[in-house]
Amino acid sequence: GAAVEVDIGDIKVGEKKTVEWRGQPVWIVRRSPEMVASLSKDTAELADPDSKRNPDEQTPPYARNEHRSIKPDVLVVVGICTHLGCSPGDKFAAGAQPSLPADWPGGWLCPCHGSTFDLAGRVFKNKPAPDNLRVPPHMYLSDSRLVIG
Ligand code: FES
Repeated sequence: GAAVEVDIGDIKVGEKKTVEWRGQPVWIVRRSPEMVASLSKDTAELADPDSKRNPDEQTPPYARNEHRSIKPDVLVVVGICTHLGCSPGDKFAAGAQPSLPADWPGGWLCPCHGSTFDLAGRVFKNKPAPDNLRVPPHMYLSDSRLVIG
């Protein structure tokens, strides 16, 4: 499939940009230092904190780390739930889903069967989604130019 080139220079800290790649939404999130720091907390609640499940499909070698990304602050994931393919909601968009609790630490909640994902797209235990959100193949051409695919 065709690769997609994205300018990420305009994504502010704490914001998300969505682009389409192979007909799928890809989320690019510029995480704050606090968001990155939160990834080392509560990993016991994650089903696959080290991205060991289906790594060839879900997590390229360069994203098999705690932040699941090349740059610690920039997350690139396919925005499709790994259970049955619904679209998880978040607080990044205006009009965020009302079902998200006020103290939601960040990450995603799938409206279909309640699976939750942290800010690295890692799935929490005891919900139906088996895998972390997919990190698509990607690379940087420069600090602000990203190629997906
Ligand atoms: Fe997301 Fe079932 S499709 S939890």
